[in-house]
Amino acid sequence: MFKLSKKVQALPPYLFLEIDKAKRRARAEGRDIIDLGVGDPDQPTPKFIIDSLSQAALDPANHRYALDQGMPVLRNAIGDWYKRRFNVDLSPDTEILPLIGSKEGIAHFPLAFLNPGDITLVPDPCYPPYKGGTILAGGRPYLLPLIAQNDFLPDLKKIPLSVRRKAKIIFVNYPNNPTSACANDDFYTGLIEFATKNKMIVISDLAYSEMAYEDFKPRSLLEFPGAKDVVIEFHSLSKTYNMTGWRIGWACGNTQLIAALAKVKSNIDSGNFSAIQLAGVTALQGPQDYLKSMCALYQQRRDVLVSGLNSLGWSAIKPKATFYVWIKIPPQADALSFAAHLLKEANIVATPGVGFGQYGEGYIRMALTVPIERIKEALERIKKIS
Ligand SMILES: Cc1ncc(COP(=O)(O)O)c(C=O)c1O
Repeated sequence: MFKLSKKVQALPPYLFLEIDKAKRRARAEGRDIIDLGVGDPDQPTPKFIIDSLSQAALDPANHRYALDQGMPVLRNAIGDWYKRRFNVDLSPDTEILPLIGSKEGIAHFPLAFLNPGDITLVPDPCYPPYKGGTILAGGRPYLLPLIAQNDFLPDLKKIPLSVRRKAKIIFVNYPNNPTSACANDDFYTGLIEFATKNKMIVISDLAYSEMAYEDFKPRSLLEFPGAKDVVIEFHSLSKTYNMTGWRIGWACGNTQLIAALAKVKSNIDSGNFSAIQLAGVTALQGPQDYLKSMCALYQQRRDVLVSGLNSLGWSAIKPKATFYVWIKIPPQADALSFAAHLLKEANIVATPGVGFGQYGEGYIRMALTVPIERIKEALERIKKIS
């Protein structure tokens, strides 16, 4: 009876909902599903953070509307964390904006700068809100293929001049979901040069910077000269502190970009629950040693899964960072039917690469979010159907 707006009609289906439905159906049939689909940590939030929330929730001062721009104590803690981790100086007043999860900020940001028909440069495959946020703001995503031959980095030289002129924003995400690729310094330097020359905003999505292995330390794009002129970086407590459900992240970087996002958000939400903001401060300032054990856990799982799959003749890339394994499927198969086959024959949920965009065809993604015994069980099941 009611007609959806053209923008909403143009949105691609949200991949994880489709997968969730298929998984729920399978579970309802009583099947023992091993879910390597959704990238949600299986470990609990560290206790000292939960304790901090419990205490803060009891204080009536925290029950009222929060400040739109976030509590100063949180912005200071974020600034200190960036300084400690990346040696980047940020002004807590003008260069940091807390978010209700980084997804919220990423999806809202294009509203601040796009006019109808404007282009954003979007890596493909990618985290879906880059496309969704662009479309909801009336823009058009121009796809930058992330392919193995180019180490899953976009080839900026290949972007036609006519597209560069209309493009207002370029999205990058390293360590990358879903390919697990990482950026090198040359790419970041070239990206800032490219964006500066073409007067383009760079959105850097750094959600996975703390989930890295073998002493690899992913860098912030804001560490690079000239970055503050063009970059807004999005970060999150979700994956670093197992806090996906809490909804807390932030944007930081260029002052004008931060102010514009704050203006959009002041018309949409009223900030995070103050008790969650205070728990966020505790997370950022508290003991960080548990991070080492979290990475060690994912690393163990990674080694078992990747070597297991490859010994069965599969072609899985060993990630240096993120908890995703990007797996090439046989050339005759397509990603959707391959994932459906795994669910039907082995009760394993994997995410078809094509759900992240057309250049994800030919791949599936598995997340390292189940215990090692379940990964071993998944390998046994795959062996049986191979
Ligand atoms: C690349 C990427 N960016 C951002 C997010 C969103 O994180 P948040 O929980 O902060 O919204 C995710 C979540 O899966 C992600 O994969």
